[in-house]
Amino acid sequence: MKLVFATANPNKVREVNQILGGELDLISLKEIGCKEEIPETQPTIEGNAIQKAMYVYEKYGVDCFAEDTGLEVEALDGEPGVRTARYAGNNKDPQANMDLILERLSHKENRKAQFKTVIALILGGKLHTCEGIATGKITKEKFGMKGFGYDPIFKADGFEKTFAEMSKEEKNLISHRAKALEQLRKILNHQNLHEK
Ligand code: IMP
Repeated sequence: MKLVFATANPNKVREVNQILGGELDLISLKEIGCKEEIPETQPTIEGNAIQKAMYVYEKYGVDCFAEDTGLEVEALDGEPGVRTARYAGNNKDPQANMDLILERLSHKENRKAQFKTVIALILGGKLHTCEGIATGKITKEKFGMKGFGYDPIFKADGFEKTFAEMSKEEKNLISHRAKALEQLRKILNHQNLHEK
């Protein structure tokens, strides 16, 4: 099945392709002629995922999905949340973003945090949403070089390594993105059954 993945983030494309393992033929925004930056101005993670998918569906008339991910830190009242990409400024610098979290947590005992991914899928004009959460803790310093974004400072519950110390296979078994994609897979399988 072919589906447009409404993202300009190559890290997300790589992970989604690895997780879905070729089950879906992902079409890029470039392939449908979408070169502009898609607006992402909603106050929630879910709102942004829906906004991105609706933008592509309304402008290009194609079945598509978009995802939005946020890191929610308990001792920071759920921050950075919807501001995860731009926490330390508009240049979306992952090192500066992680440094700011570490600094703001430097005197806090409570290191609990979670990654949340929301996927908005539009099939034949109908909107579906899927959510995936990975709970864990923020480390005291950065560990590991793999993955992307905040991976070097996040340890999932039950694991001694950060996401950035895990192989892609290990992260992709337990991540927020993998959990949301599992739901997407179910919706697509259900849809395929009913089309046959
Ligand atoms: P957005 O969903 O593109 O708005 O990205 C939100 C922010 O979360 C960016 O700073 C990403 O680097 C970060 N991010 C998204 N997914 C992950 C992940 O799987 N691990 C670590 N950071 C992530």
